[in-house]
Amino acid sequence: MSFSLSTNHDQVVDELIARYPTKMAACIPVLHLCQEQEGWVSPDIIQFVADRLDMSTSQVKGVVTFYTMYHQEKVAPNVVWVCRTLSCDLRGAKTIQEHLERRLGCGVGGTSRDGKVTLLKAECLAACGNAPMIQLNDEFHEHLDIAKLDRVLDELGVAPMPAELRTAPPVSSPSSAATAADQSEEE
Ligand code: FES
Repeated sequence: MSFSLSTNHDQVVDELIARYPTKMAACIPVLHLCQEQEGWVSPDIIQFVADRLDMSTSQVKGVVTFYTMYHQEKVAPNVVWVCRTLSCDLRGAKTIQEHLERRLGCGVGGTSRDGKVTLLKAECLAACGNAPMIQLNDEFHEHLDIAKLDRVLDELGVAPMPAELRTAPPVSSPSSAATAADQSEEE
């Protein structure tokens, strides 16, 4: 099934193209626009952007796989990135990740029981001084501990963790060892 943008978004593409000396230069913002509408960057979107910006599909895919902010698979309406690089790890990021896995009921790369949140692992998000931290959609939540993390999840409407899961081992999945960057490199 082919992809098309809404009329409003399509007009924005025209405006974006007009800002740059070449159509190709608008690739990043046009991909953001498509992801905003669709929730992820599907193969049909890659074809659409290639056609619209006079690029090859491999050029567009090169951009999509380089930047981890583009979702190459469908995700939930909310995405949590847990930073697992050194500064965050030294300040308890493993505990943060394990709590997220228990409360959401999914491992890294998975989606919560209620379908509201996809959990991903990130390389350093450049907030090391305020570690440990997560990115929830476009917002950083820093200086985290379990109580603060629970408040963030409560505000998002994630169901409280069942009592029996509080001491259960974290959900593990084969993908839990892989960061989004790892996933990009594998492609
Ligand atoms: S190590 Fe987590 S923000 Fe830098």
